[in-house]
Amino acid sequence: MPKRHLITSALPYANGPLHIGHIAGAYLPADIYVRYLRAKHGHENVLFVCGSDEHGAAISMKAIKEGTTPKEIVDRFHDINKSAFRNFGIDFDIYHRTSSELHHQTSQDFFLKLHEKGAFKKVVNEQMYDPEAKQFLADRFIMGTCPNCGHDQAYGDQCENCGKTLSPAELINPHSTLSGAKPELKETWHFYLPMGDHAEWIEAFIKDGKLDGDAHHDANLWKKHVVGQCLSWIQGGLNDRAMTRDLDWGVPVPIEGTEGKVLYVWLDAPIGYISATKQWAKDQGNEQDWERWWKDADTDMIHFIGKDNIVFHCIIFPILLKSHGGFNLPINVPANEFLNLEGDKISTSRNHAVWLHEYLEDFPERTDELRYVLASIAPESKDSEFIWKDFQARVNNELVAILGNFINRVVVLTNKYYQGAIPEGSVDDEIKDQCEKIKAAVGAHMDAFKFRDALAEAMNLARYGNKYLADLEPWKLQKTDPEAVKGIMLNALHISAELANVSDTFLPATADRIREMLRIDKVFRGFLEGHEIGAAKLLFTKVEDADVEQQVNKLEAAKAAKQQAEEEPEARPFKDNIAFDDFTKMDMRIGTIKTAEKVKKADRLLQLSVDLGSEVRTIVSGIAEHYTTEEVIGRQVTVLTNLEPRKIKGIESQGMILMAEDSSGKLAFVSPPKDFESGAEVR
Ligand code: MF3
Ligand code: ZN
Repeated sequence: MPKRHLITSALPYANGPLHIGHIAGAYLPADIYVRYLRAKHGHENVLFVCGSDEHGAAISMKAIKEGTTPKEIVDRFHDINKSAFRNFGIDFDIYHRTSSELHHQTSQDFFLKLHEKGAFKKVVNEQMYDPEAKQFLADRFIMGTCPNCGHDQAYGDQCENCGKTLSPAELINPHSTLSGAKPELKETWHFYLPMGDHAEWIEAFIKDGKLDGDAHHDANLWKKHVVGQCLSWIQGGLNDRAMTRDLDWGVPVPIEGTEGKVLYVWLDAPIGYISATKQWAKDQGNEQDWERWWKDADTDMIHFIGKDNIVFHCIIFPILLKSHGGFNLPINVPANEFLNLEGDKISTSRNHAVWLHEYLEDFPERTDELRYVLASIAPESKDSEFIWKDFQARVNNELVAILGNFINRVVVLTNKYYQGAIPEGSVDDEIKDQCEKIKAAVGAHMDAFKFRDALAEAMNLARYGNKYLADLEPWKLQKTDPEAVKGIMLNALHISAELANVSDTFLPATADRIREMLRIDKVFRGFLEGHEIGAAKLLFTKVEDADVEQQVNKLEAAKAAKQQAEEEPEARPFKDNIAFDDFTKMDMRIGTIKTAEKVKKADRLLQLSVDLGSEVRTIVSGIAEHYTTEEVIGRQVTVLTNLEPRKIKGIESQGMILMAEDSSGKLAFVSPPKDFESGAEVR
C-alpha cells in the first residue's frame, strides 16, 4: 500500500490579513513539502488541509471595536485570506471554516466523546467579570498598563508593544473594554483537561518518539527548538487547562445546563483539521473517506505551524486525540521560528508588515520571486529577517542571473540553431549523473525538513548548467564545430528539463513556464526524437532600486500613519455627577498675573505672583512650554484659590490656575473679557 500523508497548516484567525511572517512560518514550507510529496508518492496520496480559525475572543474584540459582528469580520477575512493563498500558489485541497455547521457538529461530537470518557473534570473558580456589561471577561477583554514596558493599552493576555505574555491580574489599572468598568472576580465553573495526568506518555512521545511503549516516529527528525519548548513546558509542570469559556461567540458546549458556555478556541480550532478533511471527502463524493486520513496506520500526519503554536499541536491536541481514541498522532510538527522585517519585529498593531494581498497587488507577476526569497530565508531553526534590499539582490543575482539566464540561453540558442528542433543524439552520462546526484541531495534535505538547503541544492543544478555553457561557449563553437554544439545543446536541454521538475517544489509557476517553453509534461523521461520546443520567454525580470525604495517608504508611511492615529486621543468621557454642595466648596476667582519667572531645573514650570484683589498669591504653574514669561504678565486668569497649598520644587504654591486643554494637548488660560476686576468670583 502506498504511504499516505495528511499535511495541515495552522488555521489562520479570520480577523486580519496575512503577512509574510505567516507565510514563511506555516504556509510556504507546508506547500513546498506537499509538492515534494505529491511528486514522490502521487497526488492522490497527499492531502493538504487548512481553513479559517473563526472563533476566539480576539475576533469578538475586533467586532466590538469596529462596531460590527464577529460574523461580518470572519466572512470578510475568510475570503481575503483564501484568495491570497490561492494567488500565491499555496495549493490546499480545501480551505475550510470553523464557523461551518459541519465543524460545529464535529467539534461538539468530539467534546462529548471526551466528556463521556471522563477526560475532563469540572472545576469551580473565580474569573474576571464585568459588573456593568454583566458578563465574564476573556483576558483579551481586559486592558490596562503593561507592568513591563508601561504601554497603557496592554491586553490581559499580552502586551502588543513589548510582546510580554501577561495575565489580567498583572495589569496596572485594569478595565473592561466592554464598559470601562473595573473587572471583579465572580464565581463560575468550567470543564478542565487535567494535563498532568498525561505528562508521562507525552514526554516519552516528544523526547523519544514513543507511544504506548512502541516506536511512533523518529524523534531525531523533530526540530530541536520544538522539542526544547515542549520539554520545558512539561518539566515546568502541566497544569489543568480550561476547555470551555463563558462567551457568546464560539461552538456551544453540547451539554445541558451549560448555557452561555462555548468550547475553548484552542480545543475547537485543531479539530478544524478534522472537519476540513470531512468536508473535502464529502466534496469528493465519499464522506467516509475522511477516516483513513486520520485513522489508518499508513497515513503520516504532519502539522506545519509557527513557534507560538507549538504546545497546542505537540501537547494539548495530541492529548485530546489520544483521550478520544482511534486517531493518529502527528509524526512531526516542524514549526518555524519568527521572521523579522527591516530590523524590527513584524507587528500588526504597529502596522509593520508586508501584507500578502498588498504584495500581490504591487507585484502580481512576481509570486515565485517572493516564494523563492521566503524559502531561502525561512526561519527554520532561528529567527530570520526579510529586507527589501536583500529581496532585490536574491532575485537579481540568483533568479535572473542564474536560473533565468540559463533557461533563456538554452531556449534561444535551440531556436536559433535548429529552429527549435531537438538535436539528435544521446545525453552524456556525466550530465545525467550530475542531475540525479543533485535531485537526490534535494530529496535528502526535504526528508530532513531542511527546505532552505533543499532549495540551495536545487539552484546548484542551474549553476551547474550555467557553468557548463560558460565553459564550452557553444555560441563561439557554432562557427567552427557545429556538430559538437549539437551534443552540448542536447545536454543543456536535458538539464533544463530536470530543472523544471526540481523547481516545481519551490517555484510552481516558473516550473510551468519552463515546461511550456520546452513543451514537456511533469513526467519527463528524456526528449523524444523530432521533439520541438517553443519560443523563449523571460522567466524573471530585475527588481529595480525604485521598487525597493517604494516598498521601504511604504513600510515607513504605514507605521507613521498608525502611530499618528493612535496618538489622537479618544474623546474623554464625562466624569460622574457630583453634588451641588461639592461644587460650591470650590473657591474660584479672577486673578491678574503680576510677575513671572522660570523655575530652575524645571522646564515646564513658571513661578507667578497673582493679584486676587484682596491679596497677592504665589502660584507655580506647569505652563512654561505654552507661554513665555513676557506673554503671561498682565494676563487675567481663573484661579482655584482654596486648593490645599503644595510645595513644588521647594516653592509653596498657593492655588491653581485653571487651563483649558485641547485634543492635541495645547493649553490655554480660561480668561474673562479684558480688564475685569481682579478678585471677581467665578461660580
Ligand atoms: N489561529 C491560530 C493562530 O493563528 C492557529 C490555530 S491552529 C489550529 O495562531 F490548530 F488550532 F487550528
Ligand atoms: Zn509591554
